[in-house]
Amino acid sequence: MPQHIAIIMDGNGRWAQKRHMPRTVGHAKGAAGVKALVEHCAKLGVKYLTLFAFSTENWSRPADEVSTLMALFVQYLEKEMGALAAAGVRLKVIGDVAGFAPELQTRIRAAEKATQHNQAITLVVAANYGGQWDVVQAVRNWQAAHPEASVSQLTQAQLAQHLSTAGMPDVDLLIRTGGEQRISNFLLWQAAYAELYFTDALWPEFDEAQINQSLHWFATRERRFGKVTNPNLEKAL
Ligand code: IPE
Ligand code: IPE
Ligand code: MG
Repeated sequence: MPQHIAIIMDGNGRWAQKRHMPRTVGHAKGAAGVKALVEHCAKLGVKYLTLFAFSTENWSRPADEVSTLMALFVQYLEKEMGALAAAGVRLKVIGDVAGFAPELQTRIRAAEKATQHNQAITLVVAANYGGQWDVVQAVRNWQAAHPEASVSQLTQAQLAQHLSTAGMPDVDLLIRTGGEQRISNFLLWQAAYAELYFTDALWPEFDEAQINQSLHWFATRERRFGKVTNPNLEKAL
């Protein structure tokens, strides 16, 4: 079982367009499925689930779509977080939260605080997140913490400690729904050795059966981390 699953939740707009509905209906449908998926992952023993909700590039979308996504985020924190908290879910939001409306920032911080001691699973929501932003803010934070140090002293381990995911295991399984095979500036550093799973299923269609399928696929992967094939495995094949 992967310790850390990260998902690029793509395909909401196409799901709605196929049904001759506005794209925003797809976002609402996509958000509605998140709770069941988080609970399913917690039951399976996954410790971290990171969901890409809004990228630093998504500000370029039409204003009404951006505001619907923001409103859904607020609604989510208001309506679903209570049930998730009761199920032992710890919430963490990664990304440049300062880019959001002050009211949303307050809600995010409150939900994080209210769930900080929960242990069933950590739900990481990547909002106004970009992998390139994360690396740059990590370097800046490291420099602020070590004002006398020169950047030539910065190590990979130190940089990792200043990423927004500090303290979390790296991504084991990265899933992207919606048929595209690209990373779109998601967890660039943290997915260095992730197994990549691409599915044509659109995000609103991605259910328990679909995640189980990705987990079966993950179980067949041999993670070599740069080493050679395990000789025992070679013999068994
Ligand atoms: C959801 O899917 C991703 C978000 C930015 C919330 P999209 O809105 O990208 O849907 P498609 O790719 O246009 O179908
Ligand atoms: C990636 O999806 C971002 C999120 C899922 C939040 P996009 O739909 O924005 O990605 P591109 O633009 O097709 O690469
Ligand atoms: Mg998309």
